[in-house]
Amino acid sequence: MIGKGQRFIPVRMDRTVLVTGGAGYIGSHVCKMLAGQGYVPIVYDNFSTGRREAAVFGPVVEGDILDPKALDAAFEAHEPVAVIHLAAKIAVAESVEDPAPYYETNVQGTWCLLEAMRRHGVMQIIFSSSAAVYGTPPVTVVSEEVPANPISPYGRTKLMMEQMLGDYEKAYGMSSVAFRYFNAVGADPEGQIGPMSEAPSNLIPLALQVLAGELSKLTIFGIDYPTRDGTGVRDYVHVSDLADAHVKALNYLREGGKSEVMNLGTNEGHSVKDIVQMLKNLSNRPLPVVYNERRAGDSAEVIADARKARDVLGWVPQYSDLKTICLTAWKFKEKQLAAKE
Ligand code: WQD
Repeated sequence: MIGKGQRFIPVRMDRTVLVTGGAGYIGSHVCKMLAGQGYVPIVYDNFSTGRREAAVFGPVVEGDILDPKALDAAFEAHEPVAVIHLAAKIAVAESVEDPAPYYETNVQGTWCLLEAMRRHGVMQIIFSSSAAVYGTPPVTVVSEEVPANPISPYGRTKLMMEQMLGDYEKAYGMSSVAFRYFNAVGADPEGQIGPMSEAPSNLIPLALQVLAGELSKLTIFGIDYPTRDGTGVRDYVHVSDLADAHVKALNYLREGGKSEVMNLGTNEGHSVKDIVQMLKNLSNRPLPVVYNERRAGDSAEVIADARKARDVLGWVPQYSDLKTICLTAWKFKEKQLAAKE
């Protein structure tokens, strides 16, 4: 019975989604987007790199994807209708030096998660894959048809996870969308969350450290690539656009959409120099650079053919122009600097 003056708020159990790695950089943006669209994201994270202050968009379960008991408890307590799987180890160079933890967390961890899903009858998953599965692609604009040929243990683990999903679909009817992210960058346009690595190895977080005076110079790897200005060209996609794609994929699977592998990028490339210039202009601060040899394993130019995500999901990036990417990233860095003072 609902008493006078009381409002009946229905509990929509069918809106609960388990997000592994939900306290991480991409995970926290996914959770914010889910919560904004009426879903209840359950953050499942071991907090090895995720942050408590980023896990604020739904209930939090501290647990490891390698722990079947902790997974069972989370599935029992929250009864999710689907899983968004982002928990993984992600540093390419580290995976070459020490591959064992990559196979353990990424491959074995994914197997543990898929088995927990089967035990609890949860048969829809959205998975965070990577353009790293293409290795050094033989073409500049890379569609999903380009054969996967990863060149690092990290990339190989991501491909194995995709292959596992393919087999689980055929044998058990588990449906999935695997997203191959190109270069994930930027921060929440509202400034609430953003990149969180203390020791980044990617271009924009390193450039921000230089702007902030935490690093003396940015090293540009390669000035003699066959590109417009000689520096490497990549497809940078804003993290909030990535998050939006995940929610669209969730709706797509829930409406009966078939399993797909999709690139997430913008079909546009920007050079290292473009980014340095944009960050200098927006921050009004110096950004000293030094030129060095090409970095091993790097391609000259890698751009996503992301038409499939647009055609199948209706996904159109809203924040992935270079100015918005750099501005949101710099604003978040400024906020972090102010909090330290
Ligand atoms: C971008 C450009 C560099 C640092 C990596 C992974 C990939 C994916 C995303 C996870 C390149 C140049 C960089 C620096 C530089 N990760 N650069 N100086 O290599 O395109 O992709 O992150 O899935 O798998 O390989 O990203 O940001 O490292 O490099 O000149 O200090 O910036 O050569 O042209 P990358 P990045």
